[in-house]
Amino acid sequence: MHFKLAFIGFGTVGQGLSEILLEKKEMLKKKYDFTWTVVAISDIMKGSVYDKKGLDMKKVLDLVKKGKKLDEYPTGLKDWDSLKTIRDSDADTIVEVTFTDVKTGEPAITHIKAALNSGKNVVSTNKGPVVKQAVNLLKLAEKNKAFYGFEGVVLAGTPAVNLAEYTLAGNDINGFKGILNGTTNYILTRMEEGMSYEAALKKAQELGYAEADPTGDVEGLDALGKVVILTNVVLGKNIGWQDVERKGITGISKEDIKKAKEEGMRWKLIGSAEIQVNGRVKAKVKPIKLPLNDPLAGVNEATNALTFFTDELGPVTIVGPGAGRRETGFSLLIDLLNINRKISCK
Ligand code: HSE
Repeated sequence: MHFKLAFIGFGTVGQGLSEILLEKKEMLKKKYDFTWTVVAISDIMKGSVYDKKGLDMKKVLDLVKKGKKLDEYPTGLKDWDSLKTIRDSDADTIVEVTFTDVKTGEPAITHIKAALNSGKNVVSTNKGPVVKQAVNLLKLAEKNKAFYGFEGVVLAGTPAVNLAEYTLAGNDINGFKGILNGTTNYILTRMEEGMSYEAALKKAQELGYAEADPTGDVEGLDALGKVVILTNVVLGKNIGWQDVERKGITGISKEDIKKAKEEGMRWKLIGSAEIQVNGRVKAKVKPIKLPLNDPLAGVNEATNALTFFTDELGPVTIVGPGAGRRETGFSLLIDLLNINRKISCK
């Protein structure tokens, strides 16, 4: 099937997906009968461009990498804001990759609702809407005969959401535990090697792991968002961010890390949830000092790990990238190919 895409937001993740789409164009066509045109981009900082005939994404990436605005793209309309782009462009699928706000879910919730109400599919790595309204938005998609994919909201392109929904289907999953934030895992890894907290955070930002406001990473809010998402989407409960106990890594000093190392232990920021006998969920994010022989203690850098506790198989663990430009961009390709498959099977 041919997809007409519009990007809402065009930061590192959107650019990562664009690079993958360009590099894999032939392979995607040959193997999955998946072809695409990007007709519009609207970004609050970089400006906007809409051209029905399609944009030359190589040119767009060149412009953006030089720090130029989309107004300098040679063709197309330039003054469309995000909502006009969503509603009035002839895109059939919206790639929503604006900044995340897990407390309000905005502006992404408004974008996603506008797209679904216009019968357009949405693929998004934005955690805010899934934290706040996953079930509502999935229902809205169904009502409008559209699809909403959000594989990248947990573990970037490492397929955690799809693993639970499709591959582990038939299991009762009653809990999970994992390293759900790449930035903090990267910082803890570097600090153990002797780097300062500030330098490690700066490096994580340069590598594209951290959120636009990295406070969300280091204070545990990003991991908390993922705990809420997995609890609601995988465990089938209905909790909000205020229901999760939270502590970030800012209280962990270089000395704490050194002391743990001497004891044969390692600090990790662990997010978990467990359905208790009374049916209620106990959910938390907090740094835990793990013995080095714990499998999670061996997961370093920006790598994430997630264990689902299932009734048929016991614990099932997936380990892989949890952040990064291409790694997160790739999650959007998983969603696009899923939609392609679903439409082809209709
Ligand atoms: N800032 C997030 C992290 C990005 O470091 O894990 C991926 O959700």
